[in-house]
Amino acid sequence: MNEFSFYNPVKIHFGKGSIEHLRKELPQYGKNILIVYGGGSIKSNGVYDDIMAILNDLNMNVFELSGVEPNPRVETARKGIEICKENQIDIVLAVGGGSVIDCSKLIVAGAKVEADAWDIVTRKVMATEALPLATVLTLAATASEMNSGSVITNLETKEKYGWGSPATFPKFSILDPSYTYSVPANQTVNGVVDTMSHIFEQYFNNATNTPITDEMSEGILRTLIDVAPKALKDPSNYEHRETLMLAGTIGLNGFLALGSRGDWATHNIEHAVSAYYDIAHASGLAILFPNWMKHNLHVNPSRFAKLAVNVFNIDPTNKSEEQVGLEGIEALSAFWTSLGAPNRLADYDIDATHFEEMVEHCLVYGPFGNFNKLEAEDVRKILEMSL
Ligand code: NZQ
Ligand code: ZN
Repeated sequence: MNEFSFYNPVKIHFGKGSIEHLRKELPQYGKNILIVYGGGSIKSNGVYDDIMAILNDLNMNVFELSGVEPNPRVETARKGIEICKENQIDIVLAVGGGSVIDCSKLIVAGAKVEADAWDIVTRKVMATEALPLATVLTLAATASEMNSGSVITNLETKEKYGWGSPATFPKFSILDPSYTYSVPANQTVNGVVDTMSHIFEQYFNNATNTPITDEMSEGILRTLIDVAPKALKDPSNYEHRETLMLAGTIGLNGFLALGSRGDWATHNIEHAVSAYYDIAHASGLAILFPNWMKHNLHVNPSRFAKLAVNVFNIDPTNKSEEQVGLEGIEALSAFWTSLGAPNRLADYDIDATHFEEMVEHCLVYGPFGNFNKLEAEDVRKILEMSL
């Protein structure tokens, strides 16, 4: 393992009815609250009403920002920042999936500076302070509810970047699996693909002696492979939803990167693709990850073979590590396809027209990826393999 320091201050309230924790948690921050949410799912599934009933009981002054887009736009965060500044907001409550939470992270940081929000995302301005942020999670996927990261899109410049700061960890997050019953099948699949991808990003590292994080990662992956099809068949099954929810959170709350440094190249390439074509983050990952894996199999074949045997039950007898690894990658593709995830850019009518801009976008901070550094020609190759 590498030496490490670990810090994650997010308090999690998990389980059916955990929304009731708002009653004790919120009053300590003040009276003026900004609720941030997306396109309306929280109104149709009753989550909005649950929250408003509590806020009314607490006599809070409620402000609202709705319409946060999947792949949240910097413009929407700017609107939220303005509301915070004009109304002396004391706390922001993000109610939704990763997009709503990520947008809210930019709002709480932007509310504390005079600079433009995009300068925070592009790290020209460091977000050292933020308003308090709390979240009510409605979609198991990104772990944004228990990390400090945020991914924001600027459609004008066709850029999408991740950023974060110790100041943007939520103070607390409410995770009620029953709030995810209404997540449609395609978004449920997206959540599973994103969670598995976060695990892969961290699993492919160059540290030695990582048995604890390896076992945790492989165990969560096996569990997701078992439970995802069951959750799709029975979307209101509480136990399946709670399994997916906890997996999503642990997938990117730092636990799986203890003692190692993940790769994250595929996420970088995906952000370039979704900045250009505005496709769902996980759809891009489902297409790109198997190809990143094939392209990098040679770097450490035994790592790929370990994944294939321990997670995908590939029989290694009389086979080279490369062959076992490749069979594991094919089993992963087959699994994601069986869930209904896309596997080609052509599924979205994406061709090579904008590959060069995407390559440039990925390389804005130079060659990237920690398991294997990717140069422009590697990115081009992975995109071409994904056509
Ligand atoms: O907008 P509403 O109406 O709420 O509908 C949303 C949205 O259309 C819907 N949804 C959410 N909860 C629901 C529901 N529909 C019915 N019932 C519910 N309970 O789902 C759709 C997608 O929501 P979104 O928040 O976009 O999905 P997700 O959680 O997958 O977030 C994706 C975003 O997170 C970023 C991605 O790049 C993308 O922008 N990421 C953030 C990370 C982080 N902060 O750590 C890491 C990730 O790797 C990722 O990059
Ligand atoms: Zn992701």
